[in-house]
Amino acid sequence: MVKGKEYRAEWECPSNIALIKYWGKKPAQLPLNASLSFSLKKAKTKTRVSITPASRRKVSFMFEGQASAFTERIENYLANMSLEHDWLNDFSFKIESWNTFPHSAGIASSASAFGALALCLVDLKQQVNNRQFTQEQFFQKASRWARLGSGSACRSVFPAFAVWGHLNQIPGSTDCHAIPVKGRFHPDYYSLRDAVLLVDSNKKQVSSSQGHELMNTHTFKDARLAQVNSHLFELLTVMEKGEHARFFELLEKEALSLHALMMTSDPSFILLHPNSLNIIQRIRDFRKQSGLHFGFTIDAGPNIHLIYFEKDKEVIHQFVEHELLSFTEQGQWLDDGIGNGPIQLTDEGV
Ligand code: DP6
Repeated sequence: MVKGKEYRAEWECPSNIALIKYWGKKPAQLPLNASLSFSLKKAKTKTRVSITPASRRKVSFMFEGQASAFTERIENYLANMSLEHDWLNDFSFKIESWNTFPHSAGIASSASAFGALALCLVDLKQQVNNRQFTQEQFFQKASRWARLGSGSACRSVFPAFAVWGHLNQIPGSTDCHAIPVKGRFHPDYYSLRDAVLLVDSNKKQVSSSQGHELMNTHTFKDARLAQVNSHLFELLTVMEKGEHARFFELLEKEALSLHALMMTSDPSFILLHPNSLNIIQRIRDFRKQSGLHFGFTIDAGPNIHLIYFEKDKEVIHQFVEHELLSFTEQGQWLDDGIGNGPIQLTDEGV
């Protein structure tokens, strides 16, 4: 560390959409089960962190130029991280963040937010210690640090597909951080797209964290663990072989299992909106009628992610515009797709 010097890091990190869902966790933010996702291209958070030496850590956080309710979560995160990483106690933090998607979009903004923040922190650690990590060490560390902020964030620091959670069949997989899944799948899956249909932007009655918690005592906990492991294992094989019909069956089973778990937890809760079901019905009808391969997934909210292949973009866009937008909130949807992972916006770092 150079005395009195200000260090700065700036990263852009995408959100991700899970094909196999993380639902339920153990202490220290470890997942009950392994999950698989792909990073998005357009839905991103850009974060700039400037640190100056200080006798006591102070944190200022601005989201899109304004004070934000997320500040407390970031303060708690840094306080927790500093128990293991003492250098975080020697600085004051100025953190500025922007999203490329509307706040109301119901996209997992904590994944891109903690992804971008963790990338900045690992970058700053390199600068403060004047020591470069290898690329692999850098992103592994960023994934681990992102996980401590929000579980799903650990998958966002890699391009395309990432697996988080230990599974015997996936060498190198671990609960501590996500790993990238490189070049293993049929080429069509590298052209996946995600049309995010915004059904309802009202605040959820139950947060993801509360939902995860309810899994600990869930009647179906053991059955879910058996199901999700077999889903993940089968999906990996299906994606290697390019069995598209089965891919979309498994995708939808995962999304519906996630919501079935919410509906049958104690207390029970329902995050789907009547229009979520209207959209699901239309998707299934149009799939039958068109014979094309596409389907849906859903996160912990009412919005529907229509997943399809790039080659069908024109037909799917027409279908969305003519048949689905009437079920969305003010016709809102985001047209996104599989992306290349985070980007460093300063020249120092990796
Ligand atoms: C349904 O990562 O938001 O999107 O770890 O408490 O921050 P915390 O939860 P979070 O949970 C996301 C759950 C999910 C499925 C998934 O992304 O795998």
